[in-house]
Amino acid sequence: MTRFARITGTGSCLPPRRLNNDDMVALLAERGVETSDEWIVERTGIRARHFAADGVFTSDLAETACRQALQAANTAPGEIDLIIVATSTPDMVFPSSAAILQHKLGIAGCPAFDVQAVCSGFIYALTVANAMIQTGSARKALVVGAEVFSRILDFNDRTTCVLFGDGAGAVVLEASDTPGILATDIHADGKHADILCVPGHVSGGNILGDPLLKMDGQAVFKLAVGVLEDTALASLAKAGRTAADVDWLIPHQANIRIMQSTAKKLKLSMDKVVVTVHEHGNTSAASIPLALDHAVRSGQVRRGQTLLLEGVGGGFTWGSVLLDF
Ligand code: UT7
Repeated sequence: MTRFARITGTGSCLPPRRLNNDDMVALLAERGVETSDEWIVERTGIRARHFAADGVFTSDLAETACRQALQAANTAPGEIDLIIVATSTPDMVFPSSAAILQHKLGIAGCPAFDVQAVCSGFIYALTVANAMIQTGSARKALVVGAEVFSRILDFNDRTTCVLFGDGAGAVVLEASDTPGILATDIHADGKHADILCVPGHVSGGNILGDPLLKMDGQAVFKLAVGVLEDTALASLAKAGRTAADVDWLIPHQANIRIMQSTAKKLKLSMDKVVVTVHEHGNTSAASIPLALDHAVRSGQVRRGQTLLLEGVGGGFTWGSVLLDF
């Protein structure tokens, strides 16, 4: 019998400090940097984002999201036998945020590791967890996307700092006789590394290079709209489905215009697209599980529906997961 991996619970966490676009205008004005609510809304769809307080780390946001997901799945932490955290803003250089999270959840012994694929990270993590469940290496996994991107933003660069926010989303993924994840599709092309990167590194106790986010927005935009269509069609083809079978498209929440373009290419109405970018901004690896959890808790996404999750980001990386929820 085919062994599938099914999402049995979702959870999320947004830090309480919420900044709307006017708050960002005021924050940047203190540095002599100009922006406006009109520009941000028109170019991106973003109206607000959340920033974590000092001393709050990726593993803290992840812990809250995981506890919610465990409760929704009616699962005790001790039943978990795999933890994967997708993040580009780990608590520290090492150990992994997943290992730190494991201890915060009161679990010991099961494998726990981070996946680093920037905004595609949750899609990568779900793909790895699915493969480990299908091959029998795990039965119940916590798959998490969690970020504190506010820590790597350059608040003197208006072309990037207004776009990102902090948050976490998590799912419990369990072995099941019924689907479940139907298809996965992940890719990377490192020749585009410099269009979205944080080029600094630690050496000899110092930070060398610039440890703040750099993005060529237009280059990322152009690549994103192409690869998001390709990977969506690839996952659908692998599962023998078409876009008409999709109840909800849950794309990476970076820019409403990219989501509209992808939906149009797939001939899906925007009524079938989960949109949270206006409230969360771009939370990188957290954006897809955050959007999924919000859609589940608001009653948009229901059991039995077919979901197409897709992400794109630094690396350059991209990918999608098609699943029956
Ligand atoms: O998470 C990974 C995936 N990331 C993405 O998907 C991001 C993809 N890229 C984008 O979403 C868009 O390219 C941006 C939202 C980043 C930028 O939108 P755009 O329509 O490509 O704008 P642009 O970079 O062409 O800039 C247009 C103008 C420029 O002024 P000039 O040169 O035309 O006078 C910018 O200086 O807008 C100006 N601008 C701003 N103005 C006010 C850039 N940022 C701002 C700002 N406020 N925050």
